[in-house]
Amino acid sequence: MKITVQPALDERQDALVLGIFEEDKEHYKSYHKVLAQEIDDAVEKKIFTPNFGEMYWTRILGLPYKKIMLFGLGKKKEMTVERFRKSLGKAVKCVTSAKLDSFTTNITQMAGSLKEMNHASLGMATAEALILGNYTFTKYLSKEKVEKKKVVKMVSLQWENSSSGFGEGLKTGRVIAEATNYVKDLVNEPAGVANSLYVEKAARDIAACFSKVKINVLNEMELKKLGMNAMLGVNAGSDNPPKLVILEYNGGGAKEKYTAFVGKGITFDSGGYNLKPTKYIEEMKTDMAGAAAVLGTIQVAAELGLQKNLLGVMPLCENMVNGKAQRPGDIVKAYNGKTIEIGNTDAEGRLILADALAYTERKYTPEVIIDLATLTGACVVALGYYAAGLVSKDQELLNSLQEAGSASGDPVWALPFFEDYQDWMDGTISDLNNISQKGKGHEAGSITAGVFLSKFIEKARWAHIDIAGSAYWGVEGAYTQKGATGSGVRVLSYYLLGKERRR
Ligand code: BES
Ligand code: MN
Ligand code: ZN
Repeated sequence: MKITVQPALDERQDALVLGIFEEDKEHYKSYHKVLAQEIDDAVEKKIFTPNFGEMYWTRILGLPYKKIMLFGLGKKKEMTVERFRKSLGKAVKCVTSAKLDSFTTNITQMAGSLKEMNHASLGMATAEALILGNYTFTKYLSKEKVEKKKVVKMVSLQWENSSSGFGEGLKTGRVIAEATNYVKDLVNEPAGVANSLYVEKAARDIAACFSKVKINVLNEMELKKLGMNAMLGVNAGSDNPPKLVILEYNGGGAKEKYTAFVGKGITFDSGGYNLKPTKYIEEMKTDMAGAAAVLGTIQVAAELGLQKNLLGVMPLCENMVNGKAQRPGDIVKAYNGKTIEIGNTDAEGRLILADALAYTERKYTPEVIIDLATLTGACVVALGYYAAGLVSKDQELLNSLQEAGSASGDPVWALPFFEDYQDWMDGTISDLNNISQKGKGHEAGSITAGVFLSKFIEKARWAHIDIAGSAYWGVEGAYTQKGATGSGVRVLSYYLLGKERRR
């Protein structure tokens, strides 16, 4: 998608998407008299009101556009960066369904003229909304169907302000959005194709692209030698090999400590012998969305040349059933020496993360570890699709992740980490059990999963993000599609950029 910026509307484009604030209906008189009359008339007849998100297609003889869409921006004081993203995302989707190739819009100019809007943030949000909204996964469609699937090829944005922040933001936003779309491709890819070798190859490709990115892959033999039996147990029933893939991005000083991102990479989660039922098993190709988001985040950091040292850690396994598969009741000894009873073979994500987290901390002593995982159905019940769950004992980390989440439109919502629950994962004949031993076992499932993970962290500042709901939407959003969302890339990218660098 080509994006250009110019001070006036660009009459060479197919469509005009005209944003209108509730307070601002007069504004358009100076632009075009007949259009202004049409707006007045539509408002008067209540065919269109500029409530936020309301849309109305029209045509004006004498204006060069094939179609014109009026878009309600709502009240000025209620405008937010996320509402702005939604406006542009909807614009992209409407122009596509009108079978047009390009549009020009004043929405950028309208939002930019509000005093409280930061121009760099708007630039980032613009690229994100347009590029994320324009995504389609067409790899498996036949040629005729792909040709029918329209995308917007060109957008011309009206922007009269002279500040350089907007243009810089556009560039940063494009990097983040394109990495996010790449993550969507990885997650949408069926598990028969996207196995551990496929994800490993994707990581190798990123390492090959950037001189500051190095890759290290531990194979089954090495995992055995190191004692990563929690990971090996999960993969025991699969014909695909387990892998621990580690990307090192060295953009910071030689003495600067690492920030580690650890992503759950279950390429397919059948549940194991605690087999998932119909209506639950079908989407389980998405269970590597944490690993994919980690990959995307490292790509963003490398492409933007961030001055940080980062690790992207991806334990890759497949949770399957065969004669060698792990059984409920089996006991494994994890990398850090703790023993775990397998109360349920479907609670496998925490097992592979246990080894990956402990190994990452012992080998690299990072200052901060953030893990991302499609970990619990309970998180989808609690928060739905829009936000990911967040668990941490570190208030500062909680604050910066929540701030980054809400600024990026990829929100994370903190769940309480009560002291009273900290022994709920203790085992009876083993150190730990992989399902809660209190109550019926499923209460506060997302929190107790976090409790389990915390037992594999020693000193690092740590946070856990549960993207089970946010990684794969069951419904379409303003700038998301049904299916993979790339959740995690934006919140972590914004976290790395920090508040200051986004201004
Ligand atoms: N991958 C699932 C969690 C999941 C559910 C992700 C829905 C995306 C959408 C995870 O491995 C799992 O099966 N969790 C169990 C844990 C339980 C057995 C303690 C769950 O949530 O049911
Ligand atoms: Mn599972
Ligand atoms: Zn899983």
